[in-house]
Amino acid sequence: MRYTKDPGNEGDTMAAEGLAHRTVAGGTDGSDGADGAVLRLLVINGPNLNLLGRREPEVYGRQTYEDLVDLIKEQAARKGLEAAVFQSNHEGEIIDAIHQAAGKYDGLIINPGAYTHYSYAIFDAIKGVGLPALEVHLSNIAAREEFRRHSVTAAACLGQISGLGFQGYLAAMDYLAQYWAAGQAVGKTSVAEGGSR
Ligand code: DQA
Repeated sequence: MRYTKDPGNEGDTMAAEGLAHRTVAGGTDGSDGADGAVLRLLVINGPNLNLLGRREPEVYGRQTYEDLVDLIKEQAARKGLEAAVFQSNHEGEIIDAIHQAAGKYDGLIINPGAYTHYSYAIFDAIKGVGLPALEVHLSNIAAREEFRRHSVTAAACLGQISGLGFQGYLAAMDYLAQYWAAGQAVGKTSVAEGGSR
């Protein structure tokens, strides 16, 4: 499935206003959104995810944060969508990134790290911008320490993917792409307007 009519940007990586690792890519495998619109996703990773590869490898694996960003970029290129990837260890910066996403992106994928378990401010930010969001966790938080089993931020999202490692981000991209395409098909201008939430 392809989510853009514009193949001209294939492989073009750029920095978006303070957001690292933004990639715009044209896909090659099929259908696209109405009127050439390109699906724009913002992937936000919270505290300590920059330590992937070194951090508790028995839980989070040996692949690095850069590996994760590369995987997301490759998936964006394959699927013909736009994905910006942002990481911060600071709650306020994550909230600012969510606020700035309004009007610039069609959907959010967020792994809030430990903020998952107690940040009502991030919950409010996701709710506040009204963008469809999916929460992703590398590890299966339901099978870990008690304090990790509850997410306060997931309730602001369409759903949560937990325990699938890096694949969880790819599954989230696919889901939001389908969600967006469904909204486009009924003539809506953004994912936020296209869904049932
Ligand atoms: C995590 C799970 C959180 O409990 C933890 O604080 C993290 C990573 C995950 O991706 O599995 O930092 O969000």
